[in-house]
Amino acid sequence: MTELTKNAPVVTIDGPSGSGKGTIAKLLADRLGFALLDSGALYRLTALAALNAGVDLVDEARVADIAANLDIRFAIADGEVSAVLGGVDVSRDIRMEEVSMAASRVAAVPAVREALLQRQRDFRAAPGLVADGRDMGTTVFPDAPVKIFLTASAEERARRRYAQLQGRGVSVSLRDLLEDIRARDDRDMNRAASPLAPAEDAVVLDSTDIDIEGVLQKVLELVQQRVV
Ligand code: C5P
Repeated sequence: MTELTKNAPVVTIDGPSGSGKGTIAKLLADRLGFALLDSGALYRLTALAALNAGVDLVDEARVADIAANLDIRFAIADGEVSAVLGGVDVSRDIRMEEVSMAASRVAAVPAVREALLQRQRDFRAAPGLVADGRDMGTTVFPDAPVKIFLTASAEERARRRYAQLQGRGVSVSLRDLLEDIRARDDRDMNRAASPLAPAEDAVVLDSTDIDIEGVLQKVLELVQQRVV
């Protein structure tokens, strides 16, 4: 790793599902010309690979082995990032509710988190990186100069997901989505390994009543103050 890569600034954006961190991370990376790490996609890919292989998710050793040997790459076309697993574009598959739930289960396995740690750090590159996840500021990039913890109420997050799925023609119940979100929050916040929590030096932003552009402006101000 060169000095430039090792010291490249990282902006971490952590928070619960549906807080808008994925959207903010992507817009921010575009504006700054930084690379983007969607760490949730790595847990989703691990979950999908385990489900495809018929592995029982309680078999922690086998799931960790799958995480350690993932054959994945992220391809960029027309500004859209697609996730490729074993040569197959699985970008849509990894967003399915079943995979979302499985991802939060495999993410609770310490050996899985350990297996994915270096892979995540390898995304650090000049001129900088925007890293989106749950433990980017606490565990993966503790030295990041800008750490954001983005939240929103569970109801608002369920409403956003509902609107997103309806827009795609997927019919779901709002109540089921709210239950799923609460179950994932509970698992993410209460697991022993890298639980979802703001880093001590993170700036906490609540997006319940601010739109995406408002959040983006606040984050850009912080980046301007702390980077360069
Ligand atoms: O962010 P996303 O919803 O795609 O993440 C999928 C799942 O992966 C989350 O529910 C969470 O359990 C897990 N995750 C994690 N640590 C990260 C990113 C995601 O535990 N850094």
